[in-house]
Amino acid sequence: MNTLLSSLPSFERLGRIPLYIPGKPIQEVQRELGLTSIVKLASNENPWGPTEAVKARVAAVVAGTDVEGLGLYPVSDGWYLRQRIAQRKGLPPDRIVLGNGSSEILEMVAKAAFLEGGSAVVPKHSFAIYGIATQTAGGRLIESRASTTELDADDILRRVEPDTRLVYLGHPNNPTGVRLERAALERLVRGLREDIILVVDQAYAEYEEPGEYPDAAGYLDERPNLLVLHTFSKIHCLAGMRIGYGMGSKEIMQYLERVRSPFNTNLLAQAAAEVAVQDLAFEAFSRQKNREARAAFGTEAARHRCRLSGTSGNFILLESAYPAAELFQELLKRGVIVRPMQGYGLPNHIRVSFGKPEEMEAFWRAAAPLLDGGC
Ligand SMILES: Cc1ncc(COP(=O)(O)O)c(C=O)c1O
Repeated sequence: MNTLLSSLPSFERLGRIPLYIPGKPIQEVQRELGLTSIVKLASNENPWGPTEAVKARVAAVVAGTDVEGLGLYPVSDGWYLRQRIAQRKGLPPDRIVLGNGSSEILEMVAKAAFLEGGSAVVPKHSFAIYGIATQTAGGRLIESRASTTELDADDILRRVEPDTRLVYLGHPNNPTGVRLERAALERLVRGLREDIILVVDQAYAEYEEPGEYPDAAGYLDERPNLLVLHTFSKIHCLAGMRIGYGMGSKEIMQYLERVRSPFNTNLLAQAAAEVAVQDLAFEAFSRQKNREARAAFGTEAARHRCRLSGTSGNFILLESAYPAAELFQELLKRGVIVRPMQGYGLPNHIRVSFGKPEEMEAFWRAAAPLLDGGC
């Protein structure tokens, strides 16, 4: 790019920030490759919903039989949904913020923290938005140590610098599917300087076994610098609605409220999420299906001598001898969309989301001939 804009310092800097590359949509693959049967295992969505109750609520809002109508602005701060989340989480509603997807909250907190510059510590191989949100808000990125098999809380603490304002932690992390043990999480939560906001992104927490998962929300009353995020895009199966939430101290909320766009979450999303957040049975069902998909994937991968990593979330990393970009293209031609991981510092890994059994069969039908002889 060599235009007038690119000579401006702000655009020159923006031009150097990596673009977020989303999973390829089914319609796009149909259009580009002329395929009719396509399986998408690229964006860690839940294939088992949304539930009929959620759809009925959305239909009622659309039909205007609900109190609100599509022609009216939604409740700007999602008061009703925040009440429901508060009941579920045992936290006052004024300690909850909603976002247009949890991605928006990742951006909101960066915008607030880097108004006067500063840095964020982000573990290697983390969800791309942490780095993008930091840099587009004017922050500097410090990468801490992590691998495909572990996160390192102590290295995060070591990397903190005097101008550090934020730490982002995916817990479990996407794409590596790993999380911290309770003791390590505690060292991080309690060991971090109190003027640094610790964002613990728990987008996949609901897929963890209840009782075994060290939930960072347990430290919210102790640490006013903690922000714990959840999304309705994963186990709640509302990715298309774009809605997520954050939990933190009243103080953090007051600052986030200053950077939140008015009406940032829409009417349909708020209504759908009000129903979804109460449906523990659907969560348990989805968790069980995910457990089954992970076990079946492990069995099939062993048959093909594939190397896997990740034990959390609704996805898995598969390492192959092929460059990820090539394997991705070959699978695409066969109607299977996965996510190549070269942009995450993993040039030979693809990430596969767990779909329904028939979708996973389609994956192996396409992948096996490519991978046979050992991944
Ligand atoms: C770790 C993690 N956090 C946050 C998100 C964003 O979710 P959303 O913006 O849909 O709530 C994702 C999406 O893939 C994710 O993997």
